[in-house]
Amino acid sequence: MIIYREVAVLKNKIAETRQYGKTIGLVPTMGALHSGHISLISASIKKCDITVCSIFVNPTQFNDPTDFEKYPDNISNDILMLENSGCDILFLPSVTEIYPAGTDRQNHYDIGELEYIFEGKYRPGHFQGVCQVVHRLLDIVDPHYLFMGQKDYQQCQVIMRLVQIIKCRAEVIIVKTVRENSGLAMSSRNLRLTEEQKKSAAGIFKMLMYIKNNFTTIPIPQINIYATDYLLTNGFQKVDYVAIADADTLHPVNDLSEAARLVALAAAFIGEVRLIDNMVLTD
Ligand code: PAF
Repeated sequence: MIIYREVAVLKNKIAETRQYGKTIGLVPTMGALHSGHISLISASIKKCDITVCSIFVNPTQFNDPTDFEKYPDNISNDILMLENSGCDILFLPSVTEIYPAGTDRQNHYDIGELEYIFEGKYRPGHFQGVCQVVHRLLDIVDPHYLFMGQKDYQQCQVIMRLVQIIKCRAEVIIVKTVRENSGLAMSSRNLRLTEEQKKSAAGIFKMLMYIKNNFTTIPIPQINIYATDYLLTNGFQKVDYVAIADADTLHPVNDLSEAARLVALAAAFIGEVRLIDNMVLTD
């Protein structure tokens, strides 16, 4: 695996790769890699000739500065995991390489309601920051395919909107969430949970399974209340939301007739750690 830190040098390599007709896959990450990220790398290796993983903790997507400061940094382990996964290129830029003109936002990306609902409501500005950095990474790497994890369902919808807005030629590939045996979705935030908290955290998956098994027979407003109560009585201290939404627009629904494809989405706290998860209900 070759590590590039400078945009100009990576761009030369990418131009050369494209000249030889090779396909390029991009896996953008913020490091603290786990098997969820490695499944994205594996999907890219399977589909593309060259896989580029970026590790960049993007300051512009953190609405909470302490979250940014506390973001786990484990770069030597990340490099080892990427080497073992067969990744070809690691892009490890500095903030000035990504934002030479500073971190202020030049663009507002019109992602519609996605900006303000669910994660957008609780993390104002977050998705604009995600769009800003992914736009920049797409410009630099110019991949054929962009691999995103389904764990961040709303982010996937945002990125699909972004590639349309910026008329990017990359195809977005969404890779299924990797879970621990308990059902807990792999996440860098799990590192901040104690073993006991991890056991409780699996409750979010059990709750989503409950919704999946019952959403056709229990009215949606009622099922949302049951699900919230379940979390609060099973180790979660605070629930930001549990909702069923249109799987494509993420517009919340109160009745099955309101959308053809549905997804259940949840965000809740165990101690100080905020976990999110989702499940597509209509496969
Ligand atoms: O999902 C993440 O890790 C980040 O939001 C991403 C897509 C790498 C952009 O910084």
